[in-house]
Amino acid sequence: MNINIAQESGFCFGVRRAIRLLKEAAEIHGNLETIGAAVHNHQVVESLSQLGISAVESLDSVQCSTVAIPAHGLDRRVIEKIKKRHIRIVDATCPKVRKAQLSAEQLAKDGFWVIVFGDTYHPEVQGVLGWAGGNGIATLDSEIILNIGNLPNRAGILSQTTRNPAQFANFVNEITSSVLSHVVELRIVNTICNATKRRQDAALELARKVDMMLVIGGHHSANTNNLAELCAATGVETHHIETVSEMRQEWLGNKHIGLTAGASTPDEVTKEVIAYLKENG
Ligand code: F3S
Repeated sequence: MNINIAQESGFCFGVRRAIRLLKEAAEIHGNLETIGAAVHNHQVVESLSQLGISAVESLDSVQCSTVAIPAHGLDRRVIEKIKKRHIRIVDATCPKVRKAQLSAEQLAKDGFWVIVFGDTYHPEVQGVLGWAGGNGIATLDSEIILNIGNLPNRAGILSQTTRNPAQFANFVNEITSSVLSHVVELRIVNTICNATKRRQDAALELARKVDMMLVIGGHHSANTNNLAELCAATGVETHHIETVSEMRQEWLGNKHIGLTAGASTPDEVTKEVIAYLKENG
């Protein structure tokens, strides 16, 4: 059995930065709470909870005097509410997510209706729309936009940071080719994160050379799900696992196996998978 790891894989700089900021804050201020998971990985959330950094569902559940904004950011209106309550804020929003938020805010200020190419219910996407004052829509399906009867005459399109550039380009093309009879002005802002793109390119390169791809990361992690979808689309056998406990002996054999991990997957989880492969392959 041959094992290769994608050239770019695992923690991105935004996740590393968020974890560092949270740990530093916990050392200085004691226990703190993040609104939503700090990053989309159960193992990271669990290890942070050992340090007194716990996740709560919403601002109403906060009990600590320090609240952290997770790497995928928060709706600006929620941040304003936190400030009004005089709670200390640790902002671990990834700078790339901040760029998307500020782009949405600027578009809304300039009178544009904001279209976010992204998973409607993902916290990052909800947060970005919040920075536009809720003045827009989030979807992965261009048909939904095209079926809106009365489109505003100025629209801005941006993307969830973890989306695939080619899919974003298709989405933009489908919209621009159909709405120009109603929309007077379109503004497109590329808010896709380079770290995501580099991981996707490296995973695709590896997927084309191997017999099987293992994509490691949270099942609710957008960027990990995208990696798994992209690898599977090459036709190679692909399995998305969150931890080594999901490995199956029947997947193994005399195969060339490629590994990649989402941007919020700790190295330890990947190392456990490699150890399993070496023992059982
Ligand atoms: Fe930020 Fe990109 Fe990572 S948006 S959290 S650097 S995947």
